[in-house]
Amino acid sequence: MPVIVLCSTKGGVGKSTTALVLAQVYAAAGSSVTLIDADPNQPLATWASRFGDSVPKQLEVMGGINEESIVDAIDTAAEKCPFVIVDLEGSANLTASYAISRADLVLIPMRGKQLDADQAGRVIALIERESKAFRRKIDYRVVFSMTTALQSREQRHIRTTLEEKGIPILPASMMERAAFSAMFQLGGTIFDLSEEDVSNPRTAQENAQQLATAVIETLREQETAAA
Ligand SMILES: Nc1ncnc2c1ncn2[C@@H]1O[C@H](COP(=O)(O)OP(=O)(O)O)[C@@H](O)[C@H]1O
Ligand SMILES: [Mg+2]
Repeated sequence: MPVIVLCSTKGGVGKSTTALVLAQVYAAAGSSVTLIDADPNQPLATWASRFGDSVPKQLEVMGGINEESIVDAIDTAAEKCPFVIVDLEGSANLTASYAISRADLVLIPMRGKQLDADQAGRVIALIERESKAFRRKIDYRVVFSMTTALQSREQRHIRTTLEEKGIPILPASMMERAAFSAMFQLGGTIFDLSEEDVSNPRTAQENAQQLATAVIETLREQETAAA
């Protein structure tokens, strides 16, 4: 169980990075994790095949998943695996709809930019339509990605607008850190990176932990609310 789906209709907002970081934290904590790469560009499957030796044993990456195979892939993985994380391409296609239909939590990464916020609104509308169609509340959170210590005015304004609209925001954000892009270049996980590879790997590792904890706490709140 839980099925966590990374979705946005926009590319380049940090879906694949966030999916991989969450998977790495849960795997490092000893859980087995299935990471389903349902993006035809296969960023995560490429990472896994390119750097196979440094992929943690608890982490299985399933590539080549499309609209025909996604539901079975999620259901099979969820039966045997404590964490299933699904990465999608930036498009509101059938694969995304099917993945959302199976999600315990949809994470919608966005940078603090108006264009991202507009696209996040489209994903939220899609999730709400699916909730109605399946008569099941599908929970979601916006995740601010690639944030910097100094928030821009645009970023602050977007956060306030989301809050005013009652759109739930994950209490932890993904900071912009060299470590988060270096794992795609150097392979392995953010926990393998040293000061020689990137500056401040520790800060990125701590941020990854905070993000993963916030996701777990959100899933727990859901369980409590359902009980
Ligand atoms: N938190 C981050 N810190 C630094 N670089 C990031 C971060 N998140 C994403 N990136 C970089 O931004 C680009 C887009 O990220 P990606 O995760 O591929 O987005 P998406 O999957 O939404 O298309 C990539 O080059 C990635 O390395
Ligand atoms: Mg991606």
